[in-house]
Amino acid sequence: MAPTATTTPRKLLVTGGAGYVGSVCAAVLLEVGHDVTVIDNFTTGNRSAVPEGARLVEGDVREVAGGVLAEGGFDGVLHFAARSLVGESVESPAEYWQHNVVTTLALLDAMRDNDVRNLVFSSTAATYGEPAQVPITEDMPTSPTNPYGASKLAIDHAISSYAHAYGLGATSLRYFNVAGAYGTIGENREVETHLIPLVLQVALGHREQISIFGDDYDTADGTAVRDYIHILDLAQAHLLALESNTPGQHRIYNLGSGDGYSVQQVIDTCREVTGHPIPAQHAPRRAGDPATLIASSEKIKQELGWAPQRTDLHTIVSDAWAFHTQLGDQAHSADRRA
Ligand code: UFG
Repeated sequence: MAPTATTTPRKLLVTGGAGYVGSVCAAVLLEVGHDVTVIDNFTTGNRSAVPEGARLVEGDVREVAGGVLAEGGFDGVLHFAARSLVGESVESPAEYWQHNVVTTLALLDAMRDNDVRNLVFSSTAATYGEPAQVPITEDMPTSPTNPYGASKLAIDHAISSYAHAYGLGATSLRYFNVAGAYGTIGENREVETHLIPLVLQVALGHREQISIFGDDYDTADGTAVRDYIHILDLAQAHLLALESNTPGQHRIYNLGSGDGYSVQQVIDTCREVTGHPIPAQHAPRRAGDPATLIASSEKIKQELGWAPQRTDLHTIVSDAWAFHTQLGDQAHSADRRA
């Protein structure tokens, strides 16, 4: 079921390997035969999400990455560790500049010091801000509307300059709305703000209803439209990026399925998949939410041969639902910092 690209085994560092995206990617990297060291400080990650077979170094990337890379033999880094809540970034921007930008600069310097030239970085659609048109291509202007997006864009710029000046080979993957699960690894955050897990928590009886933020957008049904990409298709893109990185080059690719689904369509699909009525109420727009975000992922398809397999919303929600139901009645965050 997992991506099965044939690769030369590599010794890799995965930062943020206890988070949702980082842990699934670490699991897939192990499955295709790579040697994986995870760094995570468990600020937001789950200890149980670190895949079996990965070596775990507990700590802040800023403090421990240099020592880990200095052990030698590392072929590449996949950098997922970050703060990633848009609303929180508006309230506490210092956290985002410190934990995203300053931390990544320390990681880039540690890579440079230890001659590790292969980097895959988790960037975001939030670098584009409110797009003038959709689908969004990589050559469209970047104009983030919050410190989260600004911090990721600043890192993309830093990576470009390190690639050109110091011979780093890197790929930034600009994720749109990552969703779904891989077996027992899925979205399980202490503070959940994302639509699909929140809706599924209603179906599980952990929340009474879902609020629909805005019903007066310029979209077919008035609710906001997003591009949901399955976590395993996302992981596949990381494998391809890792294999294609070239010293001195920084590539940037959007990652989405290319289809837009409205908040109302997501809720309806969750109703179909779960069989639960999922009460919903209309609420005001959430500040800073664009009406429609849809990716063009043509560039990565053409250049790296990325071929997403799970673009159907029903499949994405079904996999997320399987994950949430297997969590059972335990508190969704019960294992955090255990
Ligand atoms: N939404 C609701 N009710 C909720 C939660 C969300 O209606 O309870 C709506 C949001 O307003 C939005 C859509 O569902 O229209 C999707 O919201 P999410 O929070 O799931 O995802 P976002 O599109 O806000 O965020 C995603 C990524 C971010 C990234 C951002 C770029 O998760 O990392 O896109 O704009 F920064």
